[in-house]
Amino acid sequence: MMAYALRGAALVGVLLLVVASPALVPVASAVPFIVLHGIGDQCENGGMASFTEMLGEWSGSKGYCIEIGRGAWDSWLMPLQEQADTVCKKVKKMKELRKGYSIVGLSQGNLIGRAVIEYCDGGPPVKNFISIGGPHAGTASVPLCGSGIVCVLIDALIKLEIYSNYVQAHLAPSGYLKIPTDMTDYLKGCKFLPKLNNEIPSERNATYKQRFSSLENLVLIMFEDDAVLIPRETAWFGYYPDGAFSPVQPPQKTKLYTEDWIGLKALEEAGRVKFVSVPGGHLSISRSDTKKYIVPYLKPDGSSRFGIRRILSD
Ligand SMILES: *[C@@H]1O[C@H](CO)[C@@H](O)[C@H](O)[C@H]1NC(C)=O
Repeated sequence: MMAYALRGAALVGVLLLVVASPALVPVASAVPFIVLHGIGDQCENGGMASFTEMLGEWSGSKGYCIEIGRGAWDSWLMPLQEQADTVCKKVKKMKELRKGYSIVGLSQGNLIGRAVIEYCDGGPPVKNFISIGGPHAGTASVPLCGSGIVCVLIDALIKLEIYSNYVQAHLAPSGYLKIPTDMTDYLKGCKFLPKLNNEIPSERNATYKQRFSSLENLVLIMFEDDAVLIPRETAWFGYYPDGAFSPVQPPQKTKLYTEDWIGLKALEEAGRVKFVSVPGGHLSISRSDTKKYIVPYLKPDGSSRFGIRRILSD
């Protein structure tokens, strides 16, 4: 009799665990994240490896730096659509991401990340998108390559007609180089950003908007002294007006926002966009700002804070 009672109690205990855990698991389970590096960088570089590792340590979530082709070389020379297709294929194969993941983008990596969010059919859901210095509305200047053999080649490409099919197929940043005084050629010849931003009226795709506006959190980090992104406000989707180099329009004044081409307005109205401005030059985010603006969105409960509150108040 006694033994039965004990066994019964143990059984109740097991049942309680089983019953209780489904309610707790979604809150406590970690959402993994991927890191998409900027131009001229690669996952193998010490900086990227330690950045990914540090975010993982501080957040308690698993992070993966995703490489595209031959790393730094292809970040310059592979068209961005192809780079995004590569990442889409990779994330679909990663079992770890199946229940959803977050994206941390650096500079150009943000456009690849956004293309994955908008275009990756059948890919795992993206929950949080943390954009560090992303040229979301384009940039009016190609980033400086430096010296070396690849840079000589790149400089030669930049001197050609930037919106020609040839340059578009061989120089990644030509896909988001947006000269405000040359909007006709940009909309006609630029192969990447006009599509990503749903800029061409006859080619707008509601799926892009639907997917982008499904994000739980969009964090847009701009650097106060950014001299690589021209203008720096592009990190917030701000840009020059069509036809002139001034004044810079804040995101809310652009047509992308007011006509809500990709769902940025919808996201902001739902309280899911954080416009963050930090001191420093391009990508020079401090440890304390990393902890303040990036890590909270990667923590296991980062996107489920409402879930916790609901359980506690029940
Ligand atoms: C819109 O984009 C989605 C996602 O890439 C694609 O599956 C769909 O075919 C596109 N629709 C049109 C009309 O192009």
